[in-house]
Amino acid sequence: MNVLLIGGGGREHALAWKIAQSSLLDELYVTPGNPGTVRHGRNVELDLNNQKALRKFLLEKRIRIVVVGPEAPLVDGFHDRIAADQELKEVTVIGPRAEGARLEGSKDFAKEFMFRHNIPTAAHRTFVKGQLQDAIAHLDHMTAPYVIKADGLASGKGVVITNDKKDATRTLRDMLQNSTFGAAGERVVLEQHLKGVELSAFLITDGNAFKMLPAAKDYKRIGAGDTGPNTGGMGAVSPVPFADKDFMQKVHDRIAAPTVRGLKKDGIAYSGFLFMGLMNVNGDPYVIEYNVRMGDPETQAILPRLRSDLLDLFEGIASGTLSERHVDVDDRTAVTIVLASDGYPGSFEKGVVINGLDMVRDAYVFQGGTASKGDRLLTDGGRVLTVTGMGKDLESAIASAYRQAAVIDYEGKYMRTDIGHDLVKQPTQRAGAVVRS
Ligand code: AMP
Ligand code: GLY
Repeated sequence: MNVLLIGGGGREHALAWKIAQSSLLDELYVTPGNPGTVRHGRNVELDLNNQKALRKFLLEKRIRIVVVGPEAPLVDGFHDRIAADQELKEVTVIGPRAEGARLEGSKDFAKEFMFRHNIPTAAHRTFVKGQLQDAIAHLDHMTAPYVIKADGLASGKGVVITNDKKDATRTLRDMLQNSTFGAAGERVVLEQHLKGVELSAFLITDGNAFKMLPAAKDYKRIGAGDTGPNTGGMGAVSPVPFADKDFMQKVHDRIAAPTVRGLKKDGIAYSGFLFMGLMNVNGDPYVIEYNVRMGDPETQAILPRLRSDLLDLFEGIASGTLSERHVDVDDRTAVTIVLASDGYPGSFEKGVVINGLDMVRDAYVFQGGTASKGDRLLTDGGRVLTVTGMGKDLESAIASAYRQAAVIDYEGKYMRTDIGHDLVKQPTQRAGAVVRS
C-alpha cells in the first residue's frame, strides 16, 4: 500500500517512522516532510490547494491512504475536496472533513456539540461581535478566574485566563471590538474555570467503531515549573500515572463513546484521530478542548509505546473494519523532551549547526524544526527536535530521556529540565509511622 503523509514537524516524523515499520507499506511519501522523515519515506513538494496537481500525484503514485498530520488542511476542507473528486475514489483520508474539523476549528461549535450530547465540559456562554456590552455584563455572573476564548483557530494564543476583571474586560474589547485576534476572536466563548490536572486522551475512529490510544500529559509552558508563555508543547509523558484504569474507563464511557456516537447522530462522518484535552476534576474527566489530529509532542511519546501496526489501523478505517483491529500497547513509560531554540516562543535564530545526533543511543529522536545543508543538520524552527526515552517506570524514562538529550548539542539549545517531575510519586509514608497533627 502506498501512503502520503501531510506535515513536516516532529509529530509527522514520528508518524513516518511508525508507518514505515508496517509490513503493509510499499511506498511512503511525505509532504513537505523534514530531514528526519527522509529516512522513512520520500519527501515531496505538493501544493494541497492545487487539486489538479494533487490528483495527478495521487493517481500516478497509486496512493491509497493520505494521513493528515496538522489541523489546518482539515479545517480548510482538504478531505472534502478528495472525497468530491470522482477520480480519487480509492483514496482514504485519515482525518475528518471540514464539518467534523469544526470540533477544533470552532470552540462554540465544540461546546454546543458537547452540550447536545451530554459530554462533561465547563459551562459556557458565547458572544458575537456587537454583543460586547452583554459579554462584559456577563462577567458579573462569573467568578474569577475568567476564561475567555477566541472561537476560531488562533495558534494556541486564543485563550486568556485572568483573575482581574479589568483585564477580562480589556480582552473582550480586544476580541469583539478591536479584532486583535482577527476573525478568530469575533466570536468569543466565556467559560467556567475548571480546577484540576490536565491530560490528553486520544482515539482513532472510522466513524462507527473507535479505539483508545494511550493517554499523555503535555507540558505547555516554556519554563520549568509551568512558568512563562504558552508554547506548542515542551515535553510529554505517556502513560499518565493519575489516569488509572478507573479514570480511563470514565473517559471512555463519558467522553470518547458519546463523542463518536454524537458525531454519527449529527450526521457528521468522521474518520481519523481525535485528541481530547481533558481536566481531571476530583477524579472526573471534563473536556477542555477537542483537536482533530494527534498532538505534538504527545505523538512522539505515544507512538513508541504502540505495538500495533498503525497502517493496519488506517486500513481498518479505509475498509470500515476498525472494530476488528487491536491496539496493543507497551507497558513501559515514554518521556519526551523538546529541544527548542533559545528565544522560542518569541524570536530565535535559525541555521545553527546541530551536533551529536548520531551519538544518541537508546532513545528516539524525532526532528521538527530542522533543515539539512550538505551533510550538516541545522536548526530551522522553534521546536527543533524531540527526544523520547523509555523506561520500566517514570523515573527511569525521565533519566533516559535527559541522558540522551544531553548528547545533542547546538548553540542556543533550550529544554525544560522538569518534564515528568510533577508526576513522580512522593515517597509514601512508612507503614505504621505515627502521624501527628
Ligand atoms: P484550549 O486552547 O481550549 O485548550 O485552552 C488552552 C489552555 O487553557 C488549556 O490547556 C488549559 O490549561 C486552559 N483552560 C482552557 N479552558 C479552561 C477551563 N475552562 N478551566 C481551566 N483552564 C482552562
Ligand atoms: N501539544 C498540544 C497540541 O498538539 O495541541
